[in-house]
Parts: sequence; C-alpha cells; structure tokens
Amino acid sequence: ARANPHAEQEAWEAEQMKKTHVTKVGAQDAGAAVPQYDYIFEDTMDFVKADMLAGNIEELFETAEQRRKKEAEARAAAAKSEREKIAVGRSQLPVYPYRDQLLKAVEEHQILIIVAETGAGKTTQVPQYLHEGGYSAAGKIGCTQPRRVAAMSVAARVAYEMGVKLGNEVGYSIRFEDCTSDKTILKYMTDGMLLREFLSEPDLASYSVMMIDEAHERTLHTDVLFGLVKDIARFRPDLKLLISSATLDAEKFSEYFDYAPIFKIPGRRYPVDIYFTKAPEADYIDAAVQAVMRIHVLEPDGDVLVFLTGQEEIEAMEEMLRQRMRGKGTQLAEMIICPIYANLPSELQAKIFEPTPPGARKIVLATNIAETSLTIDGIKYVVDPGFSKQNSYNPRTGMESLVVTPVSKASANQRAGRAGRTSAGKCFRLYTAHSYENEMEDNTVPEIQRTNLGNVVLMLKSLGIHDLMNFDFMDPPPAETLLRALEQLYALGALNDKGELTKLGRRMAEFPLDPLLAKTLLASETYKVSQQIATVCAMVSVGSSIFYRPKDKAVYADNAHRNFARGGVGDHMALLAVYDGWAESGFSTQWCYENYIQVRSMKRARDIRDQLVGLMERVEIEMVGDPTDIDAIKKAIASGFFYHTAQLRKDGSYRTVKHPMTVNLHPSSSLNPPRREGQPIIQALPRWVVYHELVLTSKAFMRTISEIQPQWLVEIAPHYYDRKELLDAEGAGKKVPKGAKARAAMDVAE
Ligand code: CDP
Ligand code: MG
Repeated sequence: ARANPHAEQEAWEAEQMKKTHVTKVGAQDAGAAVPQYDYIFEDTMDFVKADMLAGNIEELFETAEQRRKKEAEARAAAAKSEREKIAVGRSQLPVYPYRDQLLKAVEEHQILIIVAETGAGKTTQVPQYLHEGGYSAAGKIGCTQPRRVAAMSVAARVAYEMGVKLGNEVGYSIRFEDCTSDKTILKYMTDGMLLREFLSEPDLASYSVMMIDEAHERTLHTDVLFGLVKDIARFRPDLKLLISSATLDAEKFSEYFDYAPIFKIPGRRYPVDIYFTKAPEADYIDAAVQAVMRIHVLEPDGDVLVFLTGQEEIEAMEEMLRQRMRGKGTQLAEMIICPIYANLPSELQAKIFEPTPPGARKIVLATNIAETSLTIDGIKYVVDPGFSKQNSYNPRTGMESLVVTPVSKASANQRAGRAGRTSAGKCFRLYTAHSYENEMEDNTVPEIQRTNLGNVVLMLKSLGIHDLMNFDFMDPPPAETLLRALEQLYALGALNDKGELTKLGRRMAEFPLDPLLAKTLLASETYKVSQQIATVCAMVSVGSSIFYRPKDKAVYADNAHRNFARGGVGDHMALLAVYDGWAESGFSTQWCYENYIQVRSMKRARDIRDQLVGLMERVEIEMVGDPTDIDAIKKAIASGFFYHTAQLRKDGSYRTVKHPMTVNLHPSSSLNPPRREGQPIIQALPRWVVYHELVLTSKAFMRTISEIQPQWLVEIAPHYYDRKELLDAEGAGKKVPKGAKARAAMDVAE
C-alpha cells in the first residue's frame, strides 16, 4: 500500500493549479466525478459555449444529493396541512432530537451555554421549546439579536411557525420600532434594546428566561449585557439565562459565567470546496459580479450568497448583475437577485426566504448579517470578497469611523460554511490563499475594543454603575477608551467633574441616540428650535440614503437635490428642507418622485421623528421652532457636535481642530464648491464646519456637514475650547485661502 493514498490526486491538483488562476484547497473527493473548472476572473465569458457546458454538468450532478432533496420535498408535499408541513420542517432541524435534554438542562442549571452551528435552530426553536416547556407561564421569554433585521425576520418566522399574528404572542422590539403587545410571551429584540430595558426594569422582572443569542458576535451591546445579566442572575435565582453561540470555542463564555455547563448540539455540515484567486483582485465588486456570472453559467443548480459590506455596494452590484443579465433571457437561467442589509424595508425581507422556483437561481447579496444571524436555505455557493464594514475608534484622537476591513479567518470560515448546510457546496474567495494565511487575523476583535463607548458609559452611569474600570467585562475595553468616553460626556455636560450623572445627562439617557445627538436635541431647547432639530436628528438617524440618484438620471437628480441646499446652507439644513417640503406636500409620494427623494427613507424619518418628539415631550422639552433661524439651528447642532469640528486648509482639505487630522468634504456634500477647470474653487469653501460622521475609504471624508462660526464654539463648549486657541487657529487659517481674508477678518470681528 502506498503511504499517501491521495498522492496521485494531490499531484494532479497541483498540476491543475499551475494551469489555472485558482488555488483549490479542502477538496476531499476531487478524484470522483466532480468536474474541475478553471476559475478565471478575466472577463472572457463565452455564453454560448458555457451554455453547452452547463448542460453537461447538470447530467453529471444528478446524484444522491438531488434524490435526497426530492424525497424531502415529497414528504413535505405529502403532509396534509400547512401546520403539518411546519411540524415536519421543525422536526428536521438539528436541535430537534435534543429538545427534551435541553429542557432538562435548563431546568437543572440557571445558566447554560448552548453551542450549535448556524442554522441548527437555536434562535427559532429554543425559545419555542421553552414556551412549550412551560416557562412562559412565569414571565416572558426574551431573546436578543445583534442585528435588527435578524430580530424582525426571526420573530416573523416564529410567529408563522406558531400560527399567531406577529406582534401578539410573538413580537420584536428594535430601536424606533416596538412590535409587541400585552400578549407577547416570546420577545425577540436587539441587544441594544434589552440594554435600554434595564433602565426601566433593572431586574428584568417581567422575564422568566433571557437568551443572549449570537453571543459569538461579541457586539458592544452583547458584551455589556453579559456583565449585567451575570449580575442579576445572582439575585434572581428564578431567572434562566441562556447564552448561545455558533462557534465551538464556548469555553470562554462558560468560564466567564462561573463555569456554566456547555450544551453542545452536533452540527450537520456537508463538505465545502474552497477556491482562492491566484492573484489579488483590484476591484472586489467587479470580481464578485464575474464570479456570480461564472457560477450562474457553469455551475449546477443552487443559490448563491455574496458577502458585501453595505447597502451601497449591494445596490451597485445588483445593478451590475442586472446589466449583465439584460438580453440573456433565452440563453441563461432566470436570476433572482435578493438584497439583504440592516435597513432593508421589512416588506422586502421576506423575499429572501421564498423558495427558488425550479430552473431559476437566487443570488442573495448580503452584509455580514448572513454570516451567522440569518440562515437562508438552498445556498450552495458562497462568494466571499473578504471584507466587512467595522467600527474603528482611536481613543487618542477620539476619531471614530466605519471602515471597510478585511474579515478574520473565523469569519471567512463561517461564511464558507454557509455553502454546506443542506448539501455539498463551494466557496469562492476573492482573495489569495497567501493573504488568508498571512494577512488575515484569526478572530475578529470584539467591538468593545474598537468603538466609542460614550453611549454605553452614559447608559451604565444611568443604571447606577459608577466604577466602570472595575465593571465585569469579558474583555475589558482599553482604559484609554473608557477615559475618553468619560471625558466626552463631561464636555457634553452629561457628567460633572466627579464623574456623576448630571440632570442633563439623565435627560440625555432617555434618548436611544448617540450622546452627541441626544445633546443636540436637548440644546435645541436653549435655541428654541426643537421642532427643526427633531427633524434633523430623525433624518440623520434613518440609516439609509435620503437622496435618490439613479446613474442614468444623475443630472436631473443633482439639480433637484441642489434646490434643497440653496444659498450654501449646508447639509443639515438641506435635510430639514427635504423633510419640511415633504411635510408641506402632505407627505406625498409623488412629491418624493419629483424631487428624487427615497420615499421609504422619508417614511422611516417620519416614524423616528414622531418617537423623538414623544421622548422630548417626556423630558419636557417645549416643541417650538423657527425654520428661518439658521444660526440657532446650527448652534444647536454644534452644541452636540463640537467634537466634530474641522477647519479649512489651503489645499481645500480640512483639519480637525482638537486632534489634528486631515479630513475632506464628502463628495455628496452640498457644500462642495463649483469647479473651475476641474479644480474646486477653494475661496467658496466654508472655513469652519461641523460634521455628523467620518467615513474612511480612500481618504477620511466628513459626511453631513454644516458651516459654523468659530466663536460659537467658545460659547457652546467653554470648557473644551478656549478663545485664544481658536483665535490662533483662525489667524493661521487667515494666511491661507486668498480672497477669503476679508471674510475671515469679519468673522473674528463679529
Ligand atoms: O439560530 P440558528 O442559526 O441555530 O438557526 P435558526 O435561525 O433558528 O434557523 C433554523 C431554520 O429556520 C433554518 O433552516 C432557517 O432557514 C429557518 N428560518 C427561516 O426559514 N426563516 C427565517 N426568517 C429564519 C429561519
Ligand atoms: Mg441564530
């Protein structure tokens, strides 16, 4: 016998690899009837030839897998009623055989760690088992999710399985949207919402069970919840606590929860072949489009899941795919494109779960949400560009931004695993095996260690937790980040110099908003523009784009949008003008179409605004306003965002004031000046600005910007800015933009 039974195959594969652009790893059965394809990124697809190929492949793939699938379908069809079908489906999930053991374990232990692979049924089944096991008699069964879409869609699924109306027995609660009632016994919610519930119910008295789900994601809020639930479990022995995770290294969770037992549910996973590109890809969206087309043309039936970093990328890719499919109706199978991202309107979310009709192929374009939070059946191919959008925070400069970052190996492997849930699958990684081995981190850094903690510190302070340095964090945040958060809250006036919550801070904590926005809302009272600021805060909280800018009508759209920012009033005022215009039209959909405004975003803005106004009334802010008092509106904004101040430099870029860093106007900002011979006219740029947020792509861009006067800063944040410092900066600035000198002199004289 030979020492290595696979030697021949390995040699053959090595030979193949030299010939093609692909490196292939992990294939166990390549020697069998599985055909090998060159996986080439050059855009040289020949559809006619490929069509023939696809025909051949289908024959080869008429295998056991497909027979199994057919049998399962036949069984489901034989089930008499809808309810029977649901029961059959539920009983096929990997957690099902462990139902009774699981209930017994929960009975015996107060805290239990549950580990099972994604799609095993943790999120949808375990709360139902607990309900069937009688736990809902003593209180609600809560289940947290790191992502809002997951909370909504999982709740909808469970309501369907239980045959009840969503919002009655089964409901969900996410920021700005409460879909629960007095009847609700199974409550899905974002981890951030449970954190807020602690403010009104510090012992979670209305719950009998709390399941902290997707614990492996280690979001900021989940990490803080760990500390809080661990604490209340001590004085509420009747409360059952479940911590569930999709990754197998649960020892850390167990250890943290005083060595709570781990309940492991064995997973079912089919093999997934992994392909890497041979050379790095310059444009991963473009490469992803080509990979999807390649799969669509060459590979047998099975849906495709593509991981992108956000809504914009998803929309861009959707458009590119549509273009590629145009006119190919007769040559290629139907392609059903399903986007899924955090702000996807709920009526479109259901679409991704609909079974793919025979002969068609579903292409799911998803953010990280599909990595573990959502399971979509039928996925056989994964396309992984290897990036996600992550918070990044520099405690030294207080600079916070969302950055497109390479994912960790753990993430990449979770992603690949999504291809092998119901049958063998393939994962196409749009990066090289070399970068996987050498450039990617093993694990994602927990969010708590790379984000601004202002919000969480304000919340913990409101819960009466003062000694944050000694709070029981699973992985403590850097001390510098905590100090910076305390300092920021002090500068905002939310904490006094002893680090205690002030009256202002207490009022700020009422709002489910970032402290900077909460402060802005409260400052609107002083400047008597609470109506307008409520609108601005709602508009910046929408999360999806307000402005609609289709490529083929970009000129019309830009013209329409320019109307809202007339007179260089800035982006915040433009948002206000959009909302007020829409309100004046009687919230008309037609008005949105005419002005190239996204109707859905506006509806959401209206919902958020209604809720903010409700909260403002609760903390007794008088709702008054004058839409023409632009300075008052901007001063209110600056009262919250004085941290985000930048000053113009001679080259047309900006420099942040306190901790110098170069930043730029985002191309979408209405403050971008007209251009002469392709160059911006620097004299027309505002000299001092506040910005809402920073986005890092090729450069650091400020997004949603308003011009301010530097002397406001002294008025607004006297303990943060001193007059002399600003005058010095102003003096230095004066030398710079020619022609702006006169204006600068006037500014200082004012
Ligand atoms: O939480 P875990 O990853 O263990 O699994 P789950 O989310 O409970 O999913 C169990 C099953 O429910 C999967 O087969 C999903 O496809 C299905 N499901 C669904 O059809 N629709 C949803 N909105 C959520 C789950
Ligand atoms: Mg889950």
